[in-house]
Amino acid sequence: VKVVTTHQLHNMKERGEKISMLTAYDYSMATILDAAGVDVLLVGDSASNVMAGHETTLPITLDQMIYHASSVVRGTKRAFVVVDMPFGSYQGNSSEALRSAIRIMKESGAHGVKLEGGAEIKDSIVRILSAGVPVMGHLGLTPQSIYKFGTYTVRAKEEAEAQKLIEDAQLLQELGCFAIVLEKIPSELAKKVAESLNIPIIGIGAGPHVDGQVLVVHDMLGINKEFKPRFLRRYADLHAIMTEAVQHYVQDVKSKDFPNESEAY
Ligand code: KIV
Ligand code: NA
Repeated sequence: VKVVTTHQLHNMKERGEKISMLTAYDYSMATILDAAGVDVLLVGDSASNVMAGHETTLPITLDQMIYHASSVVRGTKRAFVVVDMPFGSYQGNSSEALRSAIRIMKESGAHGVKLEGGAEIKDSIVRILSAGVPVMGHLGLTPQSIYKFGTYTVRAKEEAEAQKLIEDAQLLQELGCFAIVLEKIPSELAKKVAESLNIPIIGIGAGPHVDGQVLVVHDMLGINKEFKPRFLRRYADLHAIMTEAVQHYVQDVKSKDFPNESEAY
């Protein structure tokens, strides 16, 4: 299998082939997503919500992200694996940011890291890039700043915030980021950014006029029933399928149907 590289992702944008990206947090899921042809696997800090049941992405630690990332890497043959740098591992101190990124790359075998923010974290991005580690940016709704925003609603609807986002996106490209995630912003703004930059723009709740799409895999598979924002398309109802299967199993155990003769030694 030909592996996906940052160079190929760049070429995909140039020839207008959309980039597919999904989150992954464990080995088994990664093997399925990778074999199904997903271009980029994101070990998102959404693991804090989806895997650990926290309210926000803030509590997950660097060690926990490395554990998830190393599991995903072991299940991946083709996809480009990006790991979210967790809250507190890169802001405000570029030496610590570099140390954190190097730990992720060394201990998990992943191919790049993602950081939330623009101008505020410029020094950290420069430092990490200088070590040869590919960096993906993340602008718009940045969940690590939830207590600054107060809500998970659409970002950059006002002119000032939209202007800052455009400048931040330009800055991230100039610094050398290989791609940017834009989360939950108006479609027209995302279009403007994708058209004005050379690097791939991956959207989540950012409309169709970008270079690729990302979703949280548990959301798009319908494992998580409660979360249903407008931008989410459900490709399966695994919640129902899994519930039915498990109920069936419980019933078979209770009724002594399982195991039968042929399932015993
Ligand atoms: O952590 C995550 O799942 C993400 C995506 C939603 C982009 O950052
Ligand atoms: Na994230």
